[in-house]
Amino acid sequence: MTSQRVFRIAAIPADGVGAEVVAAGRTVLDALAAASHGTFAFDWTEFPWGCDHYQRTGRMMDEDGLETLKDFDAIYFGAVGWPTVPDHVSLWGLRLKICQGFDQWANVRPVHFLPGVLSPLRKAADTELDWVVVRENSEGEYSGLGGRNLSARGPGSEVAVQSALFTETGCERIMRFAFDLARTRVRRKVSSVTKSNAQQYGMVLWDEVFTRVAADYPDVETESVLVDAMSAKFVLHPEDLSVVVASNLHADILSDLGSAMAGSLGLASSANLNPEKRFPSMFEPVHGSAPDIAGQGLANPIGAIGSAALMLGHLGLTDEAARLTKAIEATTGAGVLTPDVGGRATTTDVTAAVIDHLT
Ligand SMILES: NC(=O)c1ccc[n+]([C@@H]2O[C@H](COP(=O)([O-])OP(=O)(O)OC[C@H]3O[C@@H](n4cnc5c(N)ncnc54)[C@H](O)[C@@H]3O)[C@@H](O)[C@H]2O)c1
Repeated sequence: MTSQRVFRIAAIPADGVGAEVVAAGRTVLDALAAASHGTFAFDWTEFPWGCDHYQRTGRMMDEDGLETLKDFDAIYFGAVGWPTVPDHVSLWGLRLKICQGFDQWANVRPVHFLPGVLSPLRKAADTELDWVVVRENSEGEYSGLGGRNLSARGPGSEVAVQSALFTETGCERIMRFAFDLARTRVRRKVSSVTKSNAQQYGMVLWDEVFTRVAADYPDVETESVLVDAMSAKFVLHPEDLSVVVASNLHADILSDLGSAMAGSLGLASSANLNPEKRFPSMFEPVHGSAPDIAGQGLANPIGAIGSAALMLGHLGLTDEAARLTKAIEATTGAGVLTPDVGGRATTTDVTAAVIDHLT
């Protein structure tokens, strides 16, 4: 028997459907490990952080939370946010704290069309559509720079400044990441999303760095598209996309558009990577805590299970990652679908079907 590799994974289900989809993903990963004939296993530690924790302690995560997470091989995350806590408090107190604290500067968000899931896009019926959004995940519009002032002037007179930070280092590393990823794909193309017509400082720097980096990748096709035009292109010409690189805010919006086009927000997976591996990376579905359906067993677990597949690839288990992706496709292809994609299956039904298709 080969020696067993044990991966230490920190699970942070957090809020709402986060708990349901992380439980689903863990069940699938444990089934894969159990079938690996002792080759690998997962050693899970679950952290109770999130909005309930905030109500009890005044903190979204423990004060030394990053120190605790630092030594894990990866983090498997659900979703954060609940109506009892302001969204900017919950997001900055947990998810963004981990992404920024661990310099997870590349956020990879595949837009994957699954068999058996009806896309609202008619073109998807007879056109191969598959692209990936690469999101700058450490700066840009989500740098947290700014402030609020002048409240002493009285109600209605306060002022807020929210600045965006673009550094050459930040732009260059995410663009090189996008070009390297494009080289692994059938279509070698990188589309840069910009808004340099209106944002004449940060986005012009973004464009200049894109041109400079592109020169090092003559084998990769490029285009630079304004964000407004890119949102139209997602709908009208998605077949022309392969890797889309965009700033923190632009990619956040575009990736939700992409997953809605693929059928549901509940399908979309993502990886927050620290490519240098100085810190653990974090894998999570793109969706939020979905308070409207939480606790009913209706959450689509595919986004979380797809994120588990991305985590397997990151841990070097590439065959298992491919097997899991195929099992997801076989599950949707067989019509085992939650209500958000037109089916009647529960979270548990879909999870069980994925496990059945692993063998
Ligand atoms: N990464 C994150 O943790 C993250 C991302 C987005 C929003 N949020 C937070 O989540 C909370 C709710 O935000 P929202 O309503 O704007 O976005 P949301 O993603 O939670 O929900 C949007 C819509 O998609 C549906 N949906 C989401 N996930 C689903 C799933 N797995 N299966 C089936 N349907 C699903 C919901 O029912 C809802 O109709 C807020 O507190 C917000 O701040 C967190």
